[in-house]
Order: sequence, then structure tokens, then C-alpha cells
Amino acid sequence: MQKRLFLGSIALAVATLAAGGAVAQTNTFKVGLILPMTGPFASTGRQIEAAAKLYMAQNGDNVAGKKIELIIKDDTGTPDVTKRLAQEMIVNDKVNVLAGFGLTPLAFATAPLATQSKTPMVVMAAATSSITQASPYIVRTSFTLPQVTVGIADWAPKNGIKKVVSLVSDYGPGIDAERTFKDRFTFNGGTVVEAVRVPLRNPDFAPFLQKVRDAKPDAVFAFVPSGAGSALMKQFAERGLDKAGIKLIATGDVTDDDILNDMGEVAVGVVTSHHYSAAHKSALNQKFVDAFSKANKGLRPNFMAVGGYDGMRVIYEALKTTKGKGDGEALLGAMKGQVFESPRGPVFIDAQTRDIVQNVYIRKVEKVGGQLYNVEFETIKDVKDPGKTK
Ligand code: DHB
Repeated sequence: MQKRLFLGSIALAVATLAAGGAVAQTNTFKVGLILPMTGPFASTGRQIEAAAKLYMAQNGDNVAGKKIELIIKDDTGTPDVTKRLAQEMIVNDKVNVLAGFGLTPLAFATAPLATQSKTPMVVMAAATSSITQASPYIVRTSFTLPQVTVGIADWAPKNGIKKVVSLVSDYGPGIDAERTFKDRFTFNGGTVVEAVRVPLRNPDFAPFLQKVRDAKPDAVFAFVPSGAGSALMKQFAERGLDKAGIKLIATGDVTDDDILNDMGEVAVGVVTSHHYSAAHKSALNQKFVDAFSKANKGLRPNFMAVGGYDGMRVIYEALKTTKGKGDGEALLGAMKGQVFESPRGPVFIDAQTRDIVQNVYIRKVEKVGGQLYNVEFETIKDVKDPGKTK
């Protein structure tokens, strides 16, 4: 009798433990955030990590009865590492969602794994148009280069710029920017006299800028990834292109809010087109910029931060809609078609393309209260990625 009772209570304890274990496991919802936290693109990782943490601090870590667990891993900006980390997160950590992807090659390296494991993959940074076609499980909250390039290619010829040399980083987003600019600018009656491509890693812009100078264009149209704009701007001035009367026009990646304030006088007056400026005038953005800055020793959020912040929003809302169901297919369905106000302005996730539709703004670098900002002066509403139609 005594013995039976004892054994019974052990059985009960084991059963309780097992059930408790199972409950604890299914009550957790894991987001695997893979970012370049070190290496030349570390600023992208730092911005997105800070934004994801801010979103969680503001919205809690309990959603539809699940505890959200954010697992952050550094891929150093190397595709093989991103792929290995994603594999480990899927197999060992059993993450419900993969997120991050600071550069195009990192997103492409991971896309097949998302497809095989049916894991939604939220691309918060990488911006080559075709990325969303690499897996039906990809949803993008950043932008695409064709999406933001059309605006400046329309603005330039209306503002006295007829002859341009393009200068882009030689990989996916740069090629997208180069092609979109050329097509649109030519359609508008302008001429691209030379297309210059610069290596992505350790670029020395000087010889390429000399080529630009020799071609004597009205302007150079530039794309370089987040973080690289300072070096370009510095060498643009050192080579005397501004003194030679050559204007710089670009996508907003070049006048990145993360580094803009340190670029100095040479940046003042530069006109760019982009989907986000820290100076965007809305109550929501003001709140976002203040909270981000307060939580990160005065750091100014850039467009990468907004991609990360909105990516977390898309994940949270999908989990709410599916009432805490963690399965990939249901989550993906609930991510598609989301409409909301972002710090960048109104956005939606196109259910067909899984890409973000958003306003693109024409902006000019100006000094505001002693600080350099991209001040928006024209809005192109609800821009879809035009790259998909090609
Ligand atoms: C990509 C990276 C960037 O830092 C950026 O500003 C735009 C695009 C990319 O690799 O896709």
C-alpha cells in the first residue's frame, strides 16, 4: 500500500514534469534574429537589434499567451555563416520565425532553408528586388532599390540634371539601382554617360570618382550600402567633385541617418530619395526617434532600425491573428496583407509579392538645430517595388 502510493506519486511527478516541460516549450515563441553584429556592416546589426529590443520593450514579451524569445546571432556579414546559423536555429532551437538579413547575399543564402523547413523569414534589411522570389516564406519589411530609385530619377531631370554618371556597389542592390536609374532617367530624356561599379568590400572610391570627374557630368548618381556613405562623401570632396560643379544625387542609403551628422558641410544640399528619414514629420516617428535615442545613448535610428522595428510588428500581429499558433503556414498567411502606420509613414505588406508597399520621399540634407538631417520635401505615395515587373 505504502509502496503503491509512493510509486504513484513518482508517476504523477514524472507526468507533471513532462506536461510542465511540454507546456513550457509550446508556450515559448522563438524569433531567430541573424545580423551582422561585427565586421564592416556592424552598424546594420546594431540598428536592427536596438529596434527589435525597443519594440519588445514597448509591447511586452507576451503575445497571445506565448512568451516571445529573441535569439540574436552574429553572422559577421558572411553568407556561409548566416546559413549555418539559420540551420542551427531551425533544427536545434526550433525557432518559429527567422529574421534579420543585413545584406542581400545573406538573405539569398538562407532562403532555401526557409522553404524546406516552412519557416517564415522576415527580411528586415536586404533590398535587392528579387529576394522575395527566392522563397515563398519570405516577407520583407525593408525596401527595394528599384522602389526608392525611381523618385530621384524623376526629380533630377526636372531640376537641371541631364547628364549623369552612375556609381554603385557591385552587387545585387547596386545593380538594381544602376538599372532602374538608367531606365527611368533615359525615359525622362536624360543620359547616363557612364556606369561605374565599385567593389562592395573595402572600397577605395578615389579612382572611380576620378573617372566620374573626367566624364564631366551634371551629377553622379550613387548607391552604397548603409555605413559606406561617409567614405564616399569624404572622397567626393577630396577629389574636388563638388568644386568642379558636379552634384551628388543618391538613394538615402548614402546619407544614412546613422552617420549623416558626421559627414560635414559636403553633405549639405545633397538630394536623395528614400522611404525613411529620422526627420519624418509624424507623431509616431517623433515618439520612435525619442525612445530609440533614449534607449541607445543618443543613437539616431536609420532606415535599418525601421525595418527591424516594423519586422517585429509584423511578427507580433501575425501571432495575435493566429491566436498563438506557432506554425509557419498560418503565420505567413497572417503576415501577408498587414496594413499599418510605421515611423516611416503608412505601409502595407502586399499579399501577392510579400513585399512592402510604402511612400518614397524626396529629401534634401539640411542643418536643423545644428544637426544634419534628410528633410523630406516631396512624397510619392504607395510605391510598389517596380523591379518585379521585369
Ligand atoms: C543592402 C544593404 C544595405 O546596407 C543597404 O543600404 C541597401 C541594400 C543589401 O545588401 O541588400
